[in-house]
Amino acid sequence: MDYGDGMTDREGIFAGDDPFVIARRWLSEAEGTEPNDPNAIALATVDANGLPNVRMVLLKEIEDDAFVFYTNYESAKGVELDAAGKAGFVMHWKSLRRQVRVRGEITREDGPQADAYYASRSLKSRLGAWASQQSRPLSSRASLVAEVAKVTARHGTNPSRPPFWGGYRLKPSHIELWADGAFRLHDRFAWTRENSGGRWSVQRLNP
Ligand SMILES: Cc1cc2nc3c(=O)[nH]c(=O)nc-3n(C[C@H](O)[C@H](O)[C@H](O)COP(=O)(O)O)c2cc1C
Repeated sequence: MDYGDGMTDREGIFAGDDPFVIARRWLSEAEGTEPNDPNAIALATVDANGLPNVRMVLLKEIEDDAFVFYTNYESAKGVELDAAGKAGFVMHWKSLRRQVRVRGEITREDGPQADAYYASRSLKSRLGAWASQQSRPLSSRASLVAEVAKVTARHGTNPSRPPFWGGYRLKPSHIELWADGAFRLHDRFAWTRENSGGRWSVQRLNP
């Protein structure tokens, strides 16, 4: 892959040209320092009126050229992701004082990779995905528990992946890696490309 000329004064935690490799390295460091969920991201979508909507999800894969997470396709975020075809997220580690910011194009991961991830989850989580009409009104906790019992009776111990549940793949046009610096003189490096398949260029940004 071609990462352009960019600035060459990246070193230490910023060393390397490939932002996906650096992000993976930072995440594996965070796995050793965060109290829980080092892979939590704040995922931003926009609704049909352009009103932003943000919630946490778990980042499940940093691929060579994309990021993958899983959810209910009929949830508020699912509807907004499908309609806009774009999203952004930030991953922040308090323990490391670093953030990774990502923006780009969204497609569904609705095939064997999603099946494999679904199958890797605990049985209760797999059944919970069947039972929850995520983001839609729920009359009571008891009715959710009753729904779990119903889907358990229907799907047994080896449920297939629900057709309304799967992955999204974010292929970025923007990736910013940020690290806290003394007296707010933070380090920021922004990788950008015209489209999600284009040539990256990297620039240092003012804090
Ligand atoms: C740390 C954390 C991780 C979460 N991970 C996921 C996830 O991977 N997928 C998911 O659908 N919801 C996840 N949630 C729940 C979402 O934040 C949210 O409540 C839910 O997906 C409904 O969002 P929506 O109504 O905007 O679609 C997580 C919440 C937290 C706090």
